[in-house]
Amino acid sequence: MENMEKKLRLAVIGCGSIAEIAHFPAIKKHPGVELTAVCDFHEKRAEEAASVHGAKAWFTDYRKLLDTCKLDAVIIATPNNWHRNMVIAAANHGVHILVEKPMAVTNGEAWAMVEACKKNHVKLMVGCDRRYWTHNQWAKKLIDDGVIGQVLMSRSCLHEHWYNYQNHVAKTDFRLDVKATGGAAINDTGAHAIDLLTWLNGSKVKRAVGVAERLAMPETYTRNDDTALLMVEFENGAYGTVSCNRFSPAVNQNTELCGTQGTIFTATDATNPFQSWPMAVYTDRKYTSESLPFELKNYRWPELFWVEDQIDEHVRNRWIPICPPRFPNNYERMMEHFFDCIINDREPLTSGEDGARAVEVMCAVHKSMETGGWVDLPLKEEIVPRGYEPLPYEN
Ligand SMILES: NC(=O)c1ccc[n+]([C@@H]2O[C@H](COP(=O)([O-])OP(=O)(O)OC[C@H]3O[C@@H](n4cnc5c(N)ncnc54)[C@H](O)[C@@H]3O)[C@@H](O)[C@H]2O)c1
Repeated sequence: MENMEKKLRLAVIGCGSIAEIAHFPAIKKHPGVELTAVCDFHEKRAEEAASVHGAKAWFTDYRKLLDTCKLDAVIIATPNNWHRNMVIAAANHGVHILVEKPMAVTNGEAWAMVEACKKNHVKLMVGCDRRYWTHNQWAKKLIDDGVIGQVLMSRSCLHEHWYNYQNHVAKTDFRLDVKATGGAAINDTGAHAIDLLTWLNGSKVKRAVGVAERLAMPETYTRNDDTALLMVEFENGAYGTVSCNRFSPAVNQNTELCGTQGTIFTATDATNPFQSWPMAVYTDRKYTSESLPFELKNYRWPELFWVEDQIDEHVRNRWIPICPPRFPNNYERMMEHFFDCIINDREPLTSGEDGARAVEVMCAVHKSMETGGWVDLPLKEEIVPRGYEPLPYEN
């Protein structure tokens, strides 16, 4: 930012559901941020968003917005196929960017976005909000501190029927249109699970294999995949699996990390009778109640430990259910981090490179369906997912 005394001048492009849920509320809450302009090619939605959220100007063409307004940062929350052109245009205008997940549809698009931001010295952050849930951040810290030893095997899943979001929350039907998305279970929900698992493992994906197919929904509803299963090998030798679907009426997002000295579970969107806490940790490392990591000591439930700690010198080895504070929520923390990165010149946790690597995994799965085997990363060619029709490049 040129002048730290001034408010950060921000625009939102795409005034749909996620902008309403995550972006506008966070902008309103932050005293150092001003909503300079909004853009949506649905004219009424743009006008309404400007009026409700107090933007000084509204546009239906993002290029006009970028040419007209003096901005520090922009949030891009449009359908996936628009991300590439919009990010590169914003970068060429010297504006910092938060782009929603999946960052792009093809690996070629994703790396072109990263390059444009590098060239223009602007920050690029991807809206992978799962990393900003407190329990996932605590899991990362506990893993990095060695509480469960070396993670060798892990899995992350996100199972959620189309109808939950598509019928009740989304403002448009773009998710159903394979020409605009290039996938659904594999890259809409998969973008979250792949990113989360990679980050928690602390290593890059070396190779991937998997399937992404439409098993549940009729072609008249969508041509996108609704079932995706994949396996990855990380550079550090560990293995992970990701499963996502768009047909389970019971929502389930959970992640399990198996280490040589323990296991961590986290559950984000919902819990079920088999996993009724947002987080659980088993560690066979020896802790006293004094040496127990902060997160385990202060957020252990139920409160049986107040007696156990008197009886046992060492904390008993057993599953420790943990209920971290719920607020500020994942989106608030993600947005706060984005503003902080710009105002205080920090590097985003969910960087453009991370987003591009996740897109590589999704594209590798498409490639592996053709070859029937593992696909090495980084990819050597651009993979265009089945049915995807990239927009003409505007820049
Ligand atoms: N991080 C998350 O948890 C999360 C959740 C939902 C959506 N998303 C992502 O956010 C993006 C948007 O999803 P959504 O659910 O808000 O969609 P949506 O259908 O609710 O809204 C999309 C909006 O973009 C507008 N739009 C489309 N093309 C445009 C263009 N060329 N210029 C300007 N406006 C345009 C539409 O008119 C609509 O208002 C997607 O990439 C999606 O994957 C992320």
